[in-house]
Amino acid sequence: MVRNKGARYASLVAAGVLAFGALTACGSDSDGGSEGSEGSSGDGSSETTGKVGVILPDSKSSVRWETQDRPNLEAAFEAAGLESIIQNAEASPDTYGQLCDQMITEGVNVLIATNLDPDSGKACIDKAKDAGVAVIDYDRLTLGGGADYYVSFDNVVVGELQGQGLIDCLNAKDVTSGNIAFINGAATDNNATLFKQGYEQVITDDGSFTVVADQTGEWDPNVAGQVFDQMYSANPDLVGLVTANDGMAGGVIARQKAAGVEGEIPVTGQDATAEGLANVLQGYQCGTVFKDTSVEAKAAADLAIAIINGDDTSSIATGSVNDSELGVDVPSVLADPVWVTADSVQSVVDAGQADAAEICKGIEDLCSEYGVG
Ligand code: BGC
Repeated sequence: MVRNKGARYASLVAAGVLAFGALTACGSDSDGGSEGSEGSSGDGSSETTGKVGVILPDSKSSVRWETQDRPNLEAAFEAAGLESIIQNAEASPDTYGQLCDQMITEGVNVLIATNLDPDSGKACIDKAKDAGVAVIDYDRLTLGGGADYYVSFDNVVVGELQGQGLIDCLNAKDVTSGNIAFINGAATDNNATLFKQGYEQVITDDGSFTVVADQTGEWDPNVAGQVFDQMYSANPDLVGLVTANDGMAGGVIARQKAAGVEGEIPVTGQDATAEGLANVLQGYQCGTVFKDTSVEAKAAADLAIAIINGDDTSSIATGSVNDSELGVDVPSVLADPVWVTADSVQSVVDAGQADAAEICKGIEDLCSEYGVG
């Protein structure tokens, strides 16, 4: 499932590997966390004793964090026999800092964290490092942060899929030129920059469509909806929009419904949420990027085990991503994203990452048409 970019991201920073020895001695003796699990290794191999802390960013910018990442991380840690604490900062940098402090105090061996912004992300990484706790940046790279590892998807490719997905979808409707717009993710998220890099490049290379508006929707469905309203009143001839995730796409589609133009100005998405997949089936959304978070979660768990055991991680973190602020390559695991259209919605259900009943509620006819169930 994970096709590591061995050739493309060949270098492994040895310093990251050398740091492990010091970590193996760190606290596996603390009491349980709010989401603890402990046991022997799921595959019957040698047991790993250790504790992992996870900080998720929020539950509103995307439902993925609670509906996909949490259960997939729990399952991956349980299978690996690792004790874990998984908490959500609910978009508050203060809470993020408190969770970081608590997890370090509770003696986690490895901290897996999705930052809210570079500053609070780095503050936590600094504290963890001072305490001898290894840090894995989960999904979002903390620019300038200095995490030991990064686990994510190839996020430029995510953006390329969105750009190409919009072009293909418009062409299929015989729309081969016209004005389009971008509604980007939050500027504090390095991923949003990478996604935009991907879709902007594809749209520019294609050359058929003109980008007449380009704004952040702050990873917030309501903000994205308001941004769409402004864009649409300034550019009533819009033919399509790149919207960077399913949540924001939903906010835009709600405004389009209010204006009676849903489906006429198709949008894109990301995260393969039930809402997004339903909008894809209805033709409001061209497609969504499916990022299999069970693969991402397992990669994080595999790395955590290797770190705790003091093993060489080079066969796991086969890639690297450059932190342009620090000028260092962060050893990375990057999974492959997949573009999903109405015809392939079922593949997300088959992968166990979306619930057919939730997607199909109220659109049962479309689900039968597209073989979703
Ligand atoms: C993630 C997306 C998510 C967005 C908002 C990004 O960093 O990669 O999957 O939709 O944050 O939470």
